[in-house]
Amino acid sequence: MKTLITGGTVVSATGRTAADVLVDGETIAAVLAPGSTLLGHDLAAHVDRVVDATGKYVIPGGIDAHTHMELPFGGTAASDTFETGTRAAAWGGTTTIIDFAVQRTGERVMDGLAAWHEKAAGRCAVDYAFHQIVGGVDDDSLKAMEGLVAEGVTSYKLFMAYPGVFMSDDAQIVRAMQKAADLGLLTMMHAENGPAIDVLAAQLVEQGKTDPYFHGIARAWQLEEEATHRAIMLADLTNAPLYVVHVSAKQAVAQLASARDEGRNVFGETCPQYLYLSLEEQLGAPGFEGAKWVCSTPLRSRAEGHQDHMWRALRTNDLQMVSTDHCPFCMKGQKELGLGDFRAIPNGIGSVEHRMDLMYQGVVTGEITLERWVELTSTTPARMFGLHGRKGVIAPGADADVVVYDPAGHTTISAATHHMAMDHSAWEGFEVDGHVDVVMSRGEVLVDADGYHGRAGHGRYVARELSQYLV
Ligand code: URP
Ligand code: ZN
Ligand code: ZN
Ligand code: ZN
Repeated sequence: MKTLITGGTVVSATGRTAADVLVDGETIAAVLAPGSTLLGHDLAAHVDRVVDATGKYVIPGGIDAHTHMELPFGGTAASDTFETGTRAAAWGGTTTIIDFAVQRTGERVMDGLAAWHEKAAGRCAVDYAFHQIVGGVDDDSLKAMEGLVAEGVTSYKLFMAYPGVFMSDDAQIVRAMQKAADLGLLTMMHAENGPAIDVLAAQLVEQGKTDPYFHGIARAWQLEEEATHRAIMLADLTNAPLYVVHVSAKQAVAQLASARDEGRNVFGETCPQYLYLSLEEQLGAPGFEGAKWVCSTPLRSRAEGHQDHMWRALRTNDLQMVSTDHCPFCMKGQKELGLGDFRAIPNGIGSVEHRMDLMYQGVVTGEITLERWVELTSTTPARMFGLHGRKGVIAPGADADVVVYDPAGHTTISAATHHMAMDHSAWEGFEVDGHVDVVMSRGEVLVDADGYHGRAGHGRYVARELSQYLV
């Protein structure tokens, strides 16, 4: 099957150019001057399908490097399965997800990875890969880390929060980082001081402060800054490259920025919720409404200016990537578990379908360039997580994961029309300029003007190489 995408502007992390894209089978065959012919023959007449991208952007499919399909959390599980979550991703122009396989204290790492393969295999609409959560660092799990690279899992995540569930103490972190440095694994860190958070949260509940808003008060920015600093120093000590997930506090960004200025190999990711939503407006919504936005790290105060600072950090490269931390829970039967005690609200927001659109708004408002949009959402994720060459670029030989994006489109986000398995949207009523028109994954059209053509099982497991950012 050959497809020619004609008339569009191909956008990469480094520039934009008018070009036609020839797709042959699963890969990109050529990027050609507009209207190119082949030995005098009109190319369009010699392909099976022509996609007209006139007036539109042609970009590499999005890579969401932080999702939690079916994550067990707080006595329930994230409401998107791999099937529903990757279908929603496809609708939104994301053609690869990297989900977190889970090992909790007392479980074995390779059992956790096998369980994740079991959940995902044959069910995904788009390609998928895994990071490994190591939630119990001990001799067994350190030994098991030695097998991850061969499984195509070249990054793993530690938690400084959630004591008793996922948390590693400093001794465990040091041991895991030493091992990771040896193996070339990239250490990802949930950087919040969990024990201190638990003290503050218990005190708030004792004072009758049980509403979702107090989730944000208990998870104070000082505890994100402190943990980020500690993670940076432990990584420095052990020579382990470090990637801090879901950064939301401007003070944590400052820690990353100064570490980078000093030449340390550290990186940071933020998420759309930390760019747009706030402690006051969303977490502080009346009654129990704020539960929709209970996630960790929490939404931060707009009065303190965290949101503007995140945009700035994306421009200055103090932060390198935007992922969603997609971890959806319905209000009914799930978020409701925390009625009367915010500590029991399952943590997470669902956005996998909206990341490309939400980040494009930064182009519309002038916060970032078109090229930076592609870099933050696709090209850097590919390089950071060992997918480069195959994903994140429109170039000959790369997988034909291509999105045709219409800057003239317009939609309003709503739970009534989204495709995620959620009974509400964290983005209800949000107006989006721009529209994902066509989504192609390895040469197959998943979404076009007629709707959805994808299928569970099209998506394949992608074994990843080592991060390009190892030094
Ligand atoms: O609230 C969140 N982020 N839920 C998912 C688990 C995590 O900490 O990433
Ligand atoms: Zn986390
Ligand atoms: Zn997460
Ligand atoms: Zn069609």
